[in-house]
Amino acid sequence: MSQRVRIAIIGAGAVADYHHVPGIHLDPRAELVAACDPNEALLAKRRGDWNISKTTTDYRAIAADPEIDAVIICTPNDTHHPITLACLAGGKHVMCEKPLGLNFKESQEMFRAAKDRGLRHMTAFTYRFAPSMRYLRHLLYAGSLGTPRHFRSQRFLDWPETSWGWRQSKKLAGAGDLFDMTIHRIDYAQDLMGRMVSITGAVAQFAPRNITPQGEPCSPSEVDDWSALICLFDRGGVGVLEGTTLAKGYHYDGFGHDWAEVNGSEATAVYQLKEPNTILLGKHGQSLQKVDVPREFLVAPGSPRDPANGVPSTVFRYDLAWEFVSGIVEGRDCVPGFDHGASAQAVADGVLESFEKRTWVQIPGAL
Ligand SMILES: NC(=O)c1ccc[n+]([C@@H]2O[C@H](COP(=O)([O-])OP(=O)(O)OC[C@H]3O[C@@H](n4cnc5c(N)ncnc54)[C@H](O)[C@@H]3O)[C@@H](O)[C@H]2O)c1
Repeated sequence: MSQRVRIAIIGAGAVADYHHVPGIHLDPRAELVAACDPNEALLAKRRGDWNISKTTTDYRAIAADPEIDAVIICTPNDTHHPITLACLAGGKHVMCEKPLGLNFKESQEMFRAAKDRGLRHMTAFTYRFAPSMRYLRHLLYAGSLGTPRHFRSQRFLDWPETSWGWRQSKKLAGAGDLFDMTIHRIDYAQDLMGRMVSITGAVAQFAPRNITPQGEPCSPSEVDDWSALICLFDRGGVGVLEGTTLAKGYHYDGFGHDWAEVNGSEATAVYQLKEPNTILLGKHGQSLQKVDVPREFLVAPGSPRDPANGVPSTVFRYDLAWEFVSGIVEGRDCVPGFDHGASAQAVADGVLESFEKRTWVQIPGAL
């Protein structure tokens, strides 16, 4: 590709501004050319914030625009499927936020549509890009932990109990903590340990969220604010995952407590969001020790990003855009793709089914 990859943002809200636009601006191979959002006032602000002139309230205009090569979809969950299909039909490469769809069927259709058209596809599973997660993965696959036996993750946030906006509508969000937070952990657990083949899960809701942050009454939440699962992996390991937005005392500058570990036959390695440039490591008979992540794991391969710039728990998120553009310019699959998004979605669906039936469920492998 001779010219820069021309990217449009669809959904100009929080995650677009926090993760993706800074990532595009850091990448000399890419150019942010347009934004789409139904909120005209937000679009007017983004024209200045993001230094763009082309904006629209209709994603179909982006899908049909021959001067756009790729899109990043950052809209509420119920719109991911129709917007992705329209953009793929218009020949755009697509990175879509998680959860990829509202259910496995939607996610599977998105994966198949991208594959059939030979377009690049990526699911925005952010935490795969944390330096400590990348280093932990390297140690695991290099055999330094021995045979991986247990995976364990805890995502504990101390959020206010006021309204979550669209996130608390079942129709718009699909589920709460499960689709918002735990689905990331499902993804990286599978990346580390293999496919989850059998699971039992549960969800719960404690906060009614019938007051807005401004103190106005609103419709109560319809979704979970706690989710958990136990799983068996196809490579023989086992996993336990838990997430909540109601863990009082776990504020930690808004980043919360985000812990994931693998216990292997030789050693344990731990990722933590609050210190993403170190991991905890320990062998049999030792106590876990803090180890610096080596330089080559601090940024995505080839990225010009300076890892010393910015807040470590924030800046690795810019590498998502680097990976998306790398897949496009190098003509290779982006990782994680829609296949990984669909696979995580199958497990998340399984958590809801398992809890409803109070039983273990088998997770379909075929995409
Ligand atoms: N990967 C991560 O770590 C991460 C973090 C936060 C959010 N997310 C995901 O990103 C998505 C957006 O979350 P957010 O926090 O930015 O939400 P947000 O509410 O801040 O922004 C969503 C934006 O989409 C716009 N929108 C709604 N319908 C649209 C449509 N049809 N076309 C174009 N724009 C439309 C809204 O007006 C809003 O500005 C969600 O799917 C969420 O799960 C992922």
